[in-house]
Amino acid sequence: MKKILLFASGSGTNVENIMAYFKNKAVNTAFLVLVNNPEAKVIEKARKNAVPVVIFDRNMLNDGAVEKIMRDFNPDLIVLAGFLWKLPETLVDLFENKIINIHPALLPKYGGKGMYGKHVHQAVLDNKEQETGITIHFVNANYDEGNVIFQATTPLEYPTTVEAIAEAVQQLEYCHFPEVIENLLKPF
Ligand code: GAR
Repeated sequence: MKKILLFASGSGTNVENIMAYFKNKAVNTAFLVLVNNPEAKVIEKARKNAVPVVIFDRNMLNDGAVEKIMRDFNPDLIVLAGFLWKLPETLVDLFENKIINIHPALLPKYGGKGMYGKHVHQAVLDNKEQETGITIHFVNANYDEGNVIFQATTPLEYPTTVEAIAEAVQQLEYCHFPEVIENLLKPF
């Protein structure tokens, strides 16, 4: 049994895709989804898959309540899948090399505070980049700066739009993120 703790803030299409991927695998997985936004669509997606969800706020993140939930679950891997807050350094230290994040660009470009979702793709478009992609990396104390585990690229042809870039990047995320997680969980 491998335990995967997922942090998410929004629509949760990656969370859904990861859960679907592991359903058809020989390895048994248990999930717990931690959400910082009570309105997030990811909540319903997790519940539909019978995956437990905990909704938390800043107080719970800072007063040790989230840490206790994480310790009790005892995850093999912690996955930030569209999670938009920074994790406190205490948690990053406690779960060193166990927390990974997906970023919708080719880090070190287009990372850092405020760089999420459409803001990233808009900046890529504004700079007329010839390619963009995804980065999966370990989480350290600074936004988007931990060691890179995996990158995949997609070429950009102009004219293009933020929506078209977002779609291409999402396809890369759906294609690669579950497999990278699976590899990190090995040996089963
Ligand atoms: C994903 O594209 C992910 O790369 C991005 O948020 C999206 C979440 O979509 N993460 C960041 O921008 C982190 N800085 P989802 O909720 O549908 O999976």
